[in-house]
Amino acid sequence: MDLFDRLKDLREQGLAEIKEAESEKSLNDVRVKLVGKKGDLTQILHQMKDVAPEKRREVGQKVNELRDLFNENLASAKDSLIEKAIEARLEAEKIDVTLPGRRKHVGSKHPIRIIQDDLERFFIGMGYQVVQGPEIESEHYNFEMLNLPKDHPARDMQATFYVDADHLLRSQTSPVQARTMEKHDFDKSDLKMISPGKVYRRDDDDATHSHQFMQMEGLVVGKNISLSDLKGTLELVAKHEFGQDRETRLRPSYFPFTEPSVEMDVSCFECGGKGCAICKNTGWIEVLGAGIVHPNVLSAAGIDPAVYSGFAFGLGLDRFAILKYGIDDIRDFYSDDVRFLQQFRQEED
Ligand code: PHE
Repeated sequence: MDLFDRLKDLREQGLAEIKEAESEKSLNDVRVKLVGKKGDLTQILHQMKDVAPEKRREVGQKVNELRDLFNENLASAKDSLIEKAIEARLEAEKIDVTLPGRRKHVGSKHPIRIIQDDLERFFIGMGYQVVQGPEIESEHYNFEMLNLPKDHPARDMQATFYVDADHLLRSQTSPVQARTMEKHDFDKSDLKMISPGKVYRRDDDDATHSHQFMQMEGLVVGKNISLSDLKGTLELVAKHEFGQDRETRLRPSYFPFTEPSVEMDVSCFECGGKGCAICKNTGWIEVLGAGIVHPNVLSAAGIDPAVYSGFAFGLGLDRFAILKYGIDDIRDFYSDDVRFLQQFRQEED
């Protein structure tokens, strides 16, 4: 067979092989076989020596033409194979956009957290800083620094969970008062702080008692801080939380770290003061304890009580939430029942 016939055959056969290749890999095998270094076309060129000299030019041209033709066809076959692969993938990975979306279960704020966040914003707006203290506290800060020396009878009221001989789960947030006073630079500014957090008491849990609850401590120390400052501040808090038309009253009370000590009542928001089940027919609801910081507490923190004075208060966030939302069992706060919690979902949640 002469070279021209062989070229003709190769042309037909090669184009057919290119057409039949079903994958990029088999197409590549075809490419190597046709136009590769040791491929069919190269082999034909090797046989040039057998061709009559006057025909060599023509054969060379034909070989080059055929190589171009193969290369073009190989390239377009490759493109269409890639396109087919993409299409197959798109088909296989098709998503049904009409399927309903998966609902995300987003939690909602705990009612105590709602009150805490709200009060924090309220106090920050009045220039208070928010301070945290440890939940495992030393007797030194939980009692001694607060004018409750060892063997003081008022310690019994706060008997709590001891971790070792002189560390306990704090029974109140008041130790944060002492910790903050010690560190504060009174030459620079007065001290105005609140401290929200968990506290613990050895209590039998029932509808109105919990061995764990939340308090928010408040403390202001500066020059000329008086009981009227305390009263004005607490009145703002009461009106903010329980309604602008609430009345407040202070009753004398006792805390070792304040003198005088008071408890604040607000007029009952249920009956407006006439007397009902919520206020136990007194017209008043007790909401917090407070007082003027005891000179011993100032001295213990290295502050001169002849120059500085202050007021402090401690409110129960659980109690605020119970009153505000009409909750009848404090244990609901700690039982992780989403049906209870979801009632307090707010717009922003
Ligand atoms: N720590 C007191 C308590 O737990 C509350 C309180 C705080 C009273 C600050 C006066 C001043 O009951």
